[in-house]
Amino acid sequence: MPPFILGIESSCDDTSASVVNGTTVLSNVTANQEVHKEFGGVVPELASRAHQQNIVPVIEAAIRRANIGKNQLAAVAFTQGPGLLGSLLVGSSFAKSFAMGLSIPLIEVDHMQAHILAHFLQQPDQANAIPSFPFVCLTVSGGHTQIVLVRDYFTMEVLGQTIDDAAGEAFDKTAKILGLPYPGGPIIDKLAAEGDSSRFSFARPKIAGLDYSFSGLKTSILYFIRDELKRDPDFIEKNKNDLCASIQKTIIDILMIKLKIAVTSSIQYPASSAFDVAIAGGVSANSALRKALTEMAKEEGWNAFIPPFEYTTDNAAMIAIAGYFKFLKGEFARQSTISYARSRW
Ligand code: KG4
Ligand code: ZN
Repeated sequence: MPPFILGIESSCDDTSASVVNGTTVLSNVTANQEVHKEFGGVVPELASRAHQQNIVPVIEAAIRRANIGKNQLAAVAFTQGPGLLGSLLVGSSFAKSFAMGLSIPLIEVDHMQAHILAHFLQQPDQANAIPSFPFVCLTVSGGHTQIVLVRDYFTMEVLGQTIDDAAGEAFDKTAKILGLPYPGGPIIDKLAAEGDSSRFSFARPKIAGLDYSFSGLKTSILYFIRDELKRDPDFIEKNKNDLCASIQKTIIDILMIKLKIAVTSSIQYPASSAFDVAIAGGVSANSALRKALTEMAKEEGWNAFIPPFEYTTDNAAMIAIAGYFKFLKGEFARQSTISYARSRW
Protein backbone atom coordinates (compact mmCIF):
# COMPACT_ATOMS: atom_id res chain seq x y z
CA MET A 1 0.00 0.00 0.00
CA PRO A 2 1.53 3.38 -1.00
CA PRO A 3 1.93 5.92 1.81
CA PHE A 4 -0.64 8.56 2.67
CA ILE A 5 0.94 12.02 2.39
CA LEU A 6 -0.62 15.28 3.54
CA GLY A 7 0.25 18.29 1.37
CA ILE A 8 -0.13 21.92 2.47
CA GLU A 9 -0.02 24.89 0.08
CA SER A 10 -0.06 28.49 1.35
CA SER A 11 2.34 30.43 -0.88
CA CYS A 12 -0.04 33.14 -2.04
CA ASP A 13 -3.76 33.66 -1.49
CA ASP A 14 -5.11 30.11 -1.50
CA THR A 15 -5.05 27.92 1.60
CA SER A 16 -5.07 24.34 0.38
CA ALA A 17 -4.63 20.87 1.85
CA SER A 18 -4.64 17.50 0.15
CA VAL A 19 -4.14 13.85 0.96
CA VAL A 20 -2.62 11.56 -1.64
CA ASN A 21 -2.15 7.82 -1.50
CA GLY A 22 0.96 7.44 -3.62
CA THR A 23 0.09 9.39 -6.76
CA THR A 24 -3.69 9.06 -6.26
CA VAL A 25 -5.55 12.11 -4.97
CA LEU A 26 -7.93 11.27 -2.12
CA SER A 27 -8.82 14.87 -1.29
CA ASN A 28 -7.92 18.39 -2.39
CA VAL A 29 -9.55 21.19 -0.40
CA THR A 30 -8.90 24.87 -1.13
CA ALA A 31 -10.14 28.02 0.60
CA ASN A 32 -9.88 30.98 -1.78
CA GLN A 33 -9.45 34.41 -0.26
CA GLU A 34 -12.16 36.75 -1.52
CA VAL A 35 -10.76 39.60 0.58
CA HIS A 36 -8.25 40.68 -2.13
CA LYS A 37 -10.85 41.36 -4.84
CA GLU A 38 -11.64 44.88 -3.73
CA PHE A 39 -7.92 45.81 -3.64
CA GLY A 40 -7.21 44.75 -7.23
CA GLY A 41 -4.44 42.36 -6.16
CA VAL A 42 -3.18 40.21 -3.31
CA VAL A 43 -2.49 42.18 -0.12
CA PRO A 44 0.26 40.19 1.66
CA GLU A 45 -0.76 40.98 5.22
CA LEU A 46 -4.40 40.12 4.60
CA ALA A 47 -3.30 36.90 2.91
CA SER A 48 -1.29 35.81 5.97
CA ARG A 49 -4.21 36.52 8.28
CA ALA A 50 -6.67 34.62 6.08
CA HIS A 51 -4.30 31.63 6.02
CA GLN A 52 -4.28 31.66 9.82
CA GLN A 53 -8.07 31.52 9.85
CA ASN A 54 -8.37 28.88 7.15
CA ILE A 55 -5.54 26.46 7.73
CA VAL A 56 -6.99 24.27 10.48
CA PRO A 57 -10.46 23.79 8.95
CA VAL A 58 -8.96 23.17 5.49
CA ILE A 59 -6.58 20.49 6.80
CA GLU A 60 -9.32 18.86 8.87
CA ALA A 61 -11.56 18.76 5.80
CA ALA A 62 -8.80 17.26 3.62
CA ILE A 63 -8.15 14.43 6.10
CA ARG A 64 -11.86 13.82 6.61
CA ARG A 65 -12.60 13.72 2.88
CA ALA A 66 -9.71 11.29 2.35
CA ASN A 67 -11.52 9.04 4.80
CA ILE A 68 -8.44 8.28 6.85
CA GLY A 69 -7.31 9.09 10.39
CA LYS A 70 -4.40 11.47 10.87
CA ASN A 71 -2.38 8.65 12.45
CA GLN A 72 -2.34 6.91 9.07
CA LEU A 73 -0.33 9.76 7.50
CA ALA A 74 3.25 8.79 6.63
CA ALA A 75 4.56 12.33 6.11
CA VAL A 76 3.56 15.97 5.76
CA ALA A 77 4.74 18.05 2.79
CA PHE A 78 4.53 21.82 2.61
CA THR A 79 5.42 24.64 0.20
CA GLN A 80 8.81 26.04 1.17
CA GLY A 81 8.83 28.76 -1.53
CA PRO A 82 8.73 30.81 -3.62
CA GLY A 83 5.84 32.96 -2.46
CA LEU A 84 4.80 35.59 0.07
CA LEU A 85 6.87 35.04 3.18
CA GLY A 86 4.04 35.69 5.66
CA SER A 87 1.81 33.24 3.80
CA LEU A 88 4.53 30.60 3.56
CA LEU A 89 5.23 30.86 7.29
CA VAL A 90 1.66 29.92 8.19
CA GLY A 91 1.85 26.69 6.17
CA SER A 92 5.39 25.77 7.17
CA SER A 93 4.84 26.41 10.88
CA PHE A 94 1.71 24.31 10.84
CA ALA A 95 3.49 21.52 8.93
CA LYS A 96 6.43 21.51 11.35
CA SER A 97 4.20 21.27 14.41
CA PHE A 98 2.01 18.62 12.79
CA ALA A 99 5.03 16.49 11.83
CA MET A 100 6.49 16.85 15.30
CA GLY A 101 3.19 16.03 17.00
CA LEU A 102 2.69 12.86 14.95
CA SER A 103 6.41 11.93 14.82
CA ILE A 104 6.34 11.70 11.03
CA PRO A 105 8.78 13.10 8.44
CA LEU A 106 8.52 16.68 7.23
CA ILE A 107 9.03 17.30 3.49
CA GLU A 108 9.72 20.67 1.87
CA VAL A 109 8.50 21.29 -1.68
CA ASP A 110 9.31 23.94 -4.26
CA HIS A 111 6.07 25.48 -5.55
CA MET A 112 7.20 25.73 -9.19
CA GLN A 113 8.43 22.12 -9.31
CA ALA A 114 5.11 21.09 -7.77
CA HIS A 115 3.11 22.83 -10.53
CA ILE A 116 4.98 20.62 -13.03
CA LEU A 117 4.62 17.45 -10.95
CA ALA A 118 0.83 17.96 -10.93
CA HIS A 119 1.01 16.13 -14.28
CA PHE A 120 1.58 12.87 -12.40
CA LEU A 121 -1.59 13.08 -10.27
CA GLN A 122 -4.13 10.30 -10.73
CA GLN A 123 -7.81 10.12 -9.80
CA PRO A 124 -8.96 7.05 -7.83
CA ASP A 125 -11.11 5.68 -10.62
CA GLN A 126 -9.34 6.73 -13.79
CA ALA A 127 -5.80 6.50 -15.14
CA ASN A 128 -4.44 9.75 -16.61
CA ALA A 129 -1.71 9.70 -19.23
CA ILE A 130 1.54 11.04 -17.80
CA PRO A 131 4.47 12.64 -19.65
CA SER A 132 7.68 10.66 -19.96
CA PHE A 133 11.12 12.09 -19.19
CA PRO A 134 12.57 14.19 -20.60
CA PHE A 135 9.75 16.61 -21.38
CA VAL A 136 9.43 20.36 -21.79
CA CYS A 137 6.95 22.22 -19.60
CA LEU A 138 5.76 25.79 -20.02
CA THR A 139 5.02 26.88 -16.46
CA VAL A 140 2.85 29.97 -16.40
CA SER A 141 1.45 31.51 -13.24
CA GLY A 142 0.85 34.82 -11.53
CA GLY A 143 4.46 35.00 -10.38
CA HIS A 144 6.40 32.96 -12.97
CA THR A 145 6.78 32.22 -16.65
CA GLN A 146 9.35 29.56 -17.40
CA ILE A 147 10.18 27.05 -20.09
CA VAL A 148 11.51 24.10 -18.13
CA LEU A 149 13.32 21.00 -19.33
CA VAL A 150 12.17 18.26 -16.97
CA ARG A 151 14.75 15.48 -16.93
CA ASP A 152 13.43 13.77 -13.82
CA TYR A 153 11.06 14.50 -10.92
CA PHE A 154 13.54 16.90 -9.36
CA THR A 155 16.09 17.43 -12.12
CA MET A 156 14.73 20.45 -13.91
CA GLU A 157 16.50 23.08 -15.95
CA VAL A 158 15.03 26.49 -16.80
CA LEU A 159 15.62 27.08 -20.52
CA GLY A 160 14.00 30.49 -20.59
CA GLN A 161 11.96 32.76 -18.35
CA THR A 162 10.42 36.18 -18.11
CA ILE A 163 12.73 39.10 -17.51
CA ASP A 164 9.91 41.22 -16.04
CA ASP A 165 6.19 40.43 -15.60
CA ALA A 166 4.82 36.89 -15.55
CA ALA A 167 2.13 35.82 -18.04
CA GLY A 168 -0.49 35.76 -15.27
CA GLU A 169 0.52 39.29 -14.29
CA ALA A 170 0.11 40.35 -17.92
CA PHE A 171 -3.46 39.06 -17.79
CA ASP A 172 -4.18 40.57 -14.37
CA LYS A 173 -2.63 43.98 -15.04
CA THR A 174 -4.29 44.45 -18.42
CA ALA A 175 -7.60 43.36 -16.90
CA LYS A 176 -7.14 46.11 -14.32
CA ILE A 177 -6.61 48.64 -17.14
CA LEU A 178 -9.95 47.48 -18.56
CA GLY A 179 -11.57 48.01 -15.14
CA LEU A 180 -12.02 44.28 -14.47
CA PRO A 181 -11.67 42.82 -10.94
CA TYR A 182 -8.75 40.71 -9.67
CA PRO A 183 -7.74 38.10 -10.72
CA GLY A 184 -8.32 39.23 -14.28
CA GLY A 185 -7.00 36.13 -16.08
CA PRO A 186 -10.14 34.00 -15.84
CA ILE A 187 -12.37 37.00 -16.63
CA ILE A 188 -10.42 37.88 -19.77
CA ASP A 189 -10.66 34.21 -20.77
CA LYS A 190 -14.46 34.30 -20.38
CA LEU A 191 -15.02 37.64 -22.14
CA ALA A 192 -12.61 36.67 -24.95
CA ALA A 193 -14.84 33.74 -25.88
CA GLU A 194 -17.35 36.20 -27.41
CA GLY A 195 -14.73 38.46 -29.00
CA ASP A 196 -12.77 38.88 -32.25
CA SER A 197 -9.09 38.25 -31.50
CA SER A 198 -7.90 39.89 -34.74
CA ARG A 199 -9.62 43.21 -34.06
CA PHE A 200 -6.73 44.93 -32.22
CA SER A 201 -3.03 44.27 -32.42
CA PHE A 202 -0.43 45.08 -29.81
CA ALA A 203 3.34 45.32 -29.81
CA ARG A 204 5.23 42.04 -29.43
CA PRO A 205 8.47 41.95 -27.45
CA LYS A 206 11.77 41.39 -29.21
CA ILE A 207 13.74 39.41 -26.67
CA ALA A 208 16.63 37.17 -27.58
CA GLY A 209 16.74 33.45 -26.88
CA LEU A 210 14.02 31.70 -24.93
CA ASP A 211 13.29 34.49 -22.47
CA TYR A 212 10.02 36.38 -22.27
CA SER A 213 8.99 39.95 -21.53
CA PHE A 214 5.46 41.17 -20.84
CA SER A 215 5.90 44.64 -19.37
CA GLY A 216 6.01 46.33 -22.83
CA LEU A 217 2.69 44.76 -23.77
CA LYS A 218 1.08 46.12 -20.62
CA THR A 219 2.39 49.62 -21.39
CA SER A 220 1.29 49.50 -25.02
CA ILE A 221 -2.23 48.48 -23.96
CA LEU A 222 -2.28 51.22 -21.32
CA TYR A 223 -1.41 53.95 -23.87
CA PHE A 224 -3.74 52.53 -26.50
CA ILE A 225 -6.69 52.52 -24.08
CA ARG A 226 -5.83 55.97 -22.76
CA ASP A 227 -5.85 57.42 -26.31
CA GLU A 228 -9.05 55.65 -27.31
CA LEU A 229 -10.83 56.81 -24.15
CA LYS A 230 -10.04 60.41 -25.09
CA ARG A 231 -11.92 59.89 -28.36
CA ASP A 232 -14.74 57.85 -26.87
CA PRO A 233 -15.29 57.52 -23.09
CA ASP A 234 -17.29 54.31 -23.72
CA PHE A 235 -14.53 52.67 -25.77
CA ILE A 236 -13.82 49.88 -23.28
CA GLU A 237 -17.47 49.07 -22.69
CA LYS A 238 -18.25 48.98 -26.44
CA ASN A 239 -15.25 46.80 -27.28
CA LYS A 240 -14.74 44.71 -24.16
CA ASN A 241 -14.97 41.29 -25.78
CA ASP A 242 -12.75 42.15 -28.74
CA LEU A 243 -10.21 43.80 -26.44
CA CYS A 244 -10.06 40.72 -24.21
CA ALA A 245 -9.81 38.36 -27.18
CA SER A 246 -7.03 40.44 -28.78
CA ILE A 247 -5.04 40.79 -25.54
CA GLN A 248 -5.40 37.08 -24.82
CA LYS A 249 -4.28 36.14 -28.33
CA THR A 250 -1.21 38.37 -28.05
CA ILE A 251 -0.15 36.81 -24.73
CA ILE A 252 -0.72 33.26 -25.99
CA ASP A 253 1.14 33.92 -29.27
CA ILE A 254 4.12 35.29 -27.33
CA LEU A 255 4.13 32.19 -25.11
CA MET A 256 3.75 29.67 -27.94
CA ILE A 257 6.40 31.11 -30.28
CA LYS A 258 9.17 30.58 -27.72
CA LEU A 259 7.80 27.23 -26.60
CA LYS A 260 7.96 26.00 -30.19
CA ILE A 261 11.57 27.17 -30.55
CA ALA A 262 12.46 25.51 -27.24
CA VAL A 263 11.02 22.18 -28.33
CA THR A 264 12.11 22.09 -31.96
CA SER A 265 15.52 23.76 -31.82
CA SER A 266 16.93 22.02 -28.87
CA ILE A 267 18.79 18.95 -28.00
CA GLN A 268 16.25 18.30 -25.27
CA TYR A 269 14.96 15.06 -26.67
CA PRO A 270 17.03 11.94 -27.32
CA ALA A 271 16.52 10.71 -30.91
CA SER A 272 14.39 7.79 -29.79
CA SER A 273 12.01 9.67 -27.51
CA ALA A 274 8.66 11.27 -28.25
CA PHE A 275 8.29 15.03 -27.92
CA ASP A 276 6.27 15.31 -24.74
CA VAL A 277 5.27 18.91 -24.09
CA ALA A 278 3.28 20.13 -21.09
CA ILE A 279 1.80 23.31 -19.65
CA ALA A 280 1.35 24.02 -15.94
CA GLY A 281 0.44 26.78 -13.49
CA GLY A 282 -2.59 29.05 -13.16
CA VAL A 283 -2.47 30.39 -16.72
CA SER A 284 -2.61 26.81 -18.07
CA ALA A 285 -6.31 27.02 -17.16
CA ASN A 286 -6.66 29.48 -20.05
CA SER A 287 -8.86 28.02 -22.79
CA ALA A 288 -6.91 29.69 -25.62
CA LEU A 289 -3.57 28.41 -24.32
CA ARG A 290 -4.96 24.89 -23.94
CA LYS A 291 -6.30 25.04 -27.51
CA ALA A 292 -3.06 26.52 -28.86
CA LEU A 293 -0.97 23.73 -27.34
CA THR A 294 -3.35 21.05 -28.63
CA GLU A 295 -3.18 22.51 -32.14
CA MET A 296 0.58 23.01 -32.15
CA ALA A 297 1.09 19.47 -30.87
CA LYS A 298 -1.04 18.16 -33.71
CA GLU A 299 0.93 20.11 -36.32
CA GLU A 300 4.33 19.27 -34.86
CA GLY A 301 3.68 15.66 -33.86
CA TRP A 302 4.15 16.30 -30.12
CA ASN A 303 2.28 14.64 -27.27
CA ALA A 304 0.51 17.44 -25.40
CA PHE A 305 -0.09 17.26 -21.64
CA ILE A 306 -2.69 19.65 -20.27
CA PRO A 307 -3.56 19.41 -16.56
CA PRO A 308 -7.15 19.07 -15.31
CA PHE A 309 -8.47 22.53 -14.28
CA GLU A 310 -8.37 21.62 -10.60
CA TYR A 311 -4.59 21.26 -10.73
CA THR A 312 -3.72 24.33 -12.80
CA THR A 313 -4.13 27.09 -10.20
CA ASP A 314 -2.59 26.73 -6.76
CA ASN A 315 -3.58 23.50 -5.02
CA ALA A 316 -2.13 21.22 -2.37
CA ALA A 317 -2.45 17.99 -4.38
CA MET A 318 0.61 19.07 -6.37
CA ILE A 319 2.50 19.65 -3.10
CA ALA A 320 1.43 16.27 -1.77
CA ILE A 321 2.57 14.38 -4.89
CA ALA A 322 5.90 16.21 -4.93
CA GLY A 323 6.15 15.18 -1.27
CA TYR A 324 5.44 11.58 -2.24
CA PHE A 325 8.27 11.54 -4.78
CA LYS A 326 10.63 12.98 -2.15
CA PHE A 327 9.35 10.44 0.38
CA LEU A 328 10.40 7.65 -1.99
CA LYS A 329 13.91 9.16 -2.06
CA GLY A 330 13.99 9.59 1.72
CA GLU A 331 14.50 13.33 1.30
CA PHE A 332 13.21 14.84 4.52
CA ALA A 333 13.48 18.37 5.93
CA ARG A 334 14.86 19.49 9.25
CA GLN A 335 12.65 21.28 11.75
CA SER A 336 15.00 24.27 11.38
CA THR A 337 14.34 24.63 7.63
CA ILE A 338 13.42 28.12 6.43
CA SER A 339 11.07 29.41 3.72
CA TYR A 340 12.21 31.38 0.69
CA ALA A 341 10.30 34.16 -1.06
CA ARG A 342 12.19 34.24 -4.37
CA SER A 343 12.57 31.54 -6.95
CA ARG A 344 15.63 29.35 -6.47
CA TRP A 345 16.05 28.59 -10.16
O1 KG4 B 1 -0.52 29.24 -10.26
P1 KG4 B 1 -1.41 30.30 -9.72
O2 KG4 B 1 -2.74 29.88 -9.12
O3 KG4 B 1 -0.69 31.16 -8.63
C1 KG4 B 1 0.66 31.49 -8.71
O4 KG4 B 1 1.51 30.61 -8.42
O5 KG4 B 1 0.91 32.64 -9.12
O6 KG4 B 1 -1.67 31.34 -10.91
C2 KG4 B 1 -2.50 32.43 -10.75
C3 KG4 B 1 -2.55 33.18 -12.07
C4 KG4 B 1 -3.27 34.54 -11.98
O7 KG4 B 1 -2.47 35.51 -12.60
C5 KG4 B 1 -4.57 34.29 -12.76
O8 KG4 B 1 -5.08 35.44 -13.39
C6 KG4 B 1 -4.10 33.27 -13.78
O9 KG4 B 1 -3.24 32.42 -13.06
N1 KG4 B 1 -5.22 32.52 -14.36
C7 KG4 B 1 -5.60 32.64 -15.65
C8 KG4 B 1 -6.74 31.82 -15.81
N2 KG4 B 1 -7.00 31.21 -14.60
C9 KG4 B 1 -6.05 31.65 -13.73
N3 KG4 B 1 -5.10 33.38 -16.65
C10 KG4 B 1 -5.71 33.28 -17.85
N4 KG4 B 1 -6.79 32.52 -18.07
C11 KG4 B 1 -7.35 31.77 -17.10
N5 KG4 B 1 -8.42 31.01 -17.34
ZN1 ZN C 1 1.29 28.72 -8.35
